[in-house]
Amino acid sequence: MPIKTIIEPFRIKSVEPIRWTTREQRLQLLRQAHYNLFLLPAVDVLIDLLTDSGTGAMSTHQWAAVMEGDESYAGSRSFERFRASIQDVFGYRHVIPTHQGRAAERILFGVTCKKGDVVPNNTHFDTTRANVEFAGAEAVDLVIPEGRQPALAHPFKGNMDVAALENLIDRVGRDRIPLAMLTVTNNSGGGQPVSMENVRHVGKVCRRHGIPLYFDAARFAENAWFIKVREEGYSDKTPKEIAQEMFSLGDGCTMSAKKDGLANIGGFLCTNNDRLAQQEKDLLILTEGYPTYGGLAGRDLEAIAVGIQEALEEDYLRYRISSTAYLGDHIAAQGVPIVQPPGGHAIYLDARAFLPHLPVEQFPGAALAAELYLEGGVRSVEIGSLMFGPAAQMELVRLAIPRRVYTQSHIDYLVEVILEVWRNRERIRGLRLTYEAPFLRHFTARLEPVD
Ligand code: F0G
Repeated sequence: MPIKTIIEPFRIKSVEPIRWTTREQRLQLLRQAHYNLFLLPAVDVLIDLLTDSGTGAMSTHQWAAVMEGDESYAGSRSFERFRASIQDVFGYRHVIPTHQGRAAERILFGVTCKKGDVVPNNTHFDTTRANVEFAGAEAVDLVIPEGRQPALAHPFKGNMDVAALENLIDRVGRDRIPLAMLTVTNNSGGGQPVSMENVRHVGKVCRRHGIPLYFDAARFAENAWFIKVREEGYSDKTPKEIAQEMFSLGDGCTMSAKKDGLANIGGFLCTNNDRLAQQEKDLLILTEGYPTYGGLAGRDLEAIAVGIQEALEEDYLRYRISSTAYLGDHIAAQGVPIVQPPGGHAIYLDARAFLPHLPVEQFPGAALAAELYLEGGVRSVEIGSLMFGPAAQMELVRLAIPRRVYTQSHIDYLVEVILEVWRNRERIRGLRLTYEAPFLRHFTARLEPVD
């Protein structure tokens, strides 16, 4: 029987109530939050799509493993299980736990980068870029040109431009490039995947020049699924086999286990380089903790050990990716401009095309995000001029889907809310700033509607 309905491959054992508010209440709340959704109390949000990071639901197996947490300071059994699970998938010699992804980034760039160095990536995530720059190096984004055009469909829009990588190496010299990175999937580029062919190609160039290749693996399982369904020769392979093959083409990774680790906190850093691993562990002890816990509780290590494996299950990935695509396809079919094709963890609305009557100075992304909250209690995040200032290349609103949290009826509700806002788009007013912090202003900015 052909099954059209997307059903969640799990049943629900524990529920967390979410709260309705009236439109009048939401208007009041929006004013109190100065039209900045970061400033809203989470209890007043009905569907929270601010991020897919740390917001997932754990499984019964994960909760059972939590009870097995060994809280010994050194050499705990939980660390042994954590390392075994990660090595099974990633295959790297050294596994270093950290409290989340950015801690792994800080340690990696702290030991590998110095002033004047250059780090290429398909697209650096914000914290990745900030940590490269904090180490004195330059972060260069080399995604293929297709990856910069929101409306253009391409199966692997997260791919790195290999010719641009070779040019960069020629221009600055191998000695100034301590490592290259691939972010799978490419979050800042719309959650778009990288193909195995591209990984192989980038790996070959790196190897020829003696440059280590690292993965920002936060959404590695979703990337593996896209390879399975979109790349020739992979349909018969399991997501795990695909992930194993991909990681075998590199030398290490950073990981935020808050995404495809299916955990609420945690991360890790992997490398095959013994000397580097020693330096990284020395730094880890200074700021995170002893190398067998790295700032996490034993129970967190257990949750990640199980989560890494569950994130690769086919039923889960099929549901996950089709549910995100369902949201994107249903709104796009009515004309709503989105980044195409739908990404793995999120749908990105193109606010400039959605609200062409608003100039960029009036923050179309923030105005659209505020309207989605007003209409349906939905919280999203602006990725545009409010976040990046004049450097913003696009005005996007990200709807990030937490893992295993919302059901298909929640997704249908989201479609209704977005289409209602789309129908009334001409009435949406722009916003202006009344307060901004000197850096990372989007977290605390205050705004008000323009008359
Ligand atoms: N790399 C990528 C690709 C990410 O998306 C994130 C976090 C990090 C690294 C940093 O990991 O948060 O555990 O320190 N992304 C979140 C988001 C915050 O909302 O996209 P972290």
